[in-house]
Amino acid sequence: MKTGAFRTEAAEQLGCMNEVLAGLIRPLVRALHPYAPGEQPKIKGLIKLNTNENPYPPSPRVLAAVKEAVDGRLRLYPNATAQPLREKLAKLHGCQSENLIIGNGSDELLTLATRAFVEPAQACVAADVSRRVGGENAALTSRARRQRATVQYFVPSYSVYPVLTEIHGALHNAVALPADFALPLDRFGGRAGQVFADAALTLVTTPNAPTGRGYSTKDLEALCRKLKGVVVLDEAYVDFADENALSLALKYPHVLVARTFSKAYSLCFQRVGYCVGHPELIAALDKIKDSYNVNGLGQVAALATLGDLPYYRANFRRIIATRERVSGELRELGFDVLPSQTNFIFTKPPRFPAKVWLGELRARKILVRWFSCPETCDYLRISIGTEAEMDALLRAAKGILKAPGGRGSRSSPR
Ligand SMILES: Cc1ncc(COP(=O)(O)O)c(C=O)c1O
Repeated sequence: MKTGAFRTEAAEQLGCMNEVLAGLIRPLVRALHPYAPGEQPKIKGLIKLNTNENPYPPSPRVLAAVKEAVDGRLRLYPNATAQPLREKLAKLHGCQSENLIIGNGSDELLTLATRAFVEPAQACVAADVSRRVGGENAALTSRARRQRATVQYFVPSYSVYPVLTEIHGALHNAVALPADFALPLDRFGGRAGQVFADAALTLVTTPNAPTGRGYSTKDLEALCRKLKGVVVLDEAYVDFADENALSLALKYPHVLVARTFSKAYSLCFQRVGYCVGHPELIAALDKIKDSYNVNGLGQVAALATLGDLPYYRANFRRIIATRERVSGELRELGFDVLPSQTNFIFTKPPRFPAKVWLGELRARKILVRWFSCPETCDYLRISIGTEAEMDALLRAAKGILKAPGGRGSRSSPR
């Protein structure tokens, strides 16, 4: 056989094989657009302002505790419910350990909430078909069933929410935020795009990402009081904000607050997050989590973190001071910078489209984040780095604006 013919046959076989394998994968998974994490650079020397990591390392006490725990214990399973960590967090937040569940990052807890509180849509459609007997009551129950299968979230907010909804096969209610990204408290109703009072699960990023906008506890409380299903207040960035809404999770049985050690506590690598709320909801999440969902070194690191809070509070103040300085300097360069309550800023850059800026900054070894959807494509999201990293960003921005043609002599964006 000639090599060419052999190649064609091999390619055909491979094509068949791929088709067979594709048939083994659920259609929902085949069609899924997964969450796209920010670029993790493979080359050295890039300034990474694209994933909202903390620019400062964990406290020396945390590093020492983790190193000390690396011994023969690695052979053993960790505490299945992270009980010592829950007890310490309960003391910190003035609640009981039954009000707390620890997750493998707060992302895991968002996944668990979707699974625990939302019916997959297929189940509700099947129920509709089998009960299609007509009449007003049937129509009402059909609406109620759709609400049981609905995950509601605001746009823009954390872009993981639509992906979780999709994976679970649930229905989306994506509610567009107004131009100033405020909470749409006056937009309740029954039509798509309005806030449904009875959606099974409402996910609220507060302060919001990627906009950085903070929400007052008063407004969040007004929202929670109108919602009948479970509400998760996702406070991943709350340590950089003026207010937090933890009290709502202890006041209203249908409200959960999700927190993470990733951002403010410099522990992305260890994957530890937690949820606070009514013991009944917490127990539901606990029932469906993996047996040993939080790795042992993560538990050690988080416990040691809680033993050194003044170190972290000093870092919050530093990051907030840098955020305010850089926001001011970017405004002077013509950037429209939204007020931020987080460790990043959301800004409309001057003169060129945001996507062009993304490429120009990348060419100058600075990574920032750009989201292509219509609500966000005019903006860049820039994480707050060290003072030196932010000075480099400002220098690069000045260079891009000053160079002939405005974009410098570097390559065009990809
Ligand atoms: C709004 C929001 N919530 C939750 C998370 C997840 O954090 P982690 O899983 O690291 O705890 C992130 C991470 O970027 C986030 O931006």
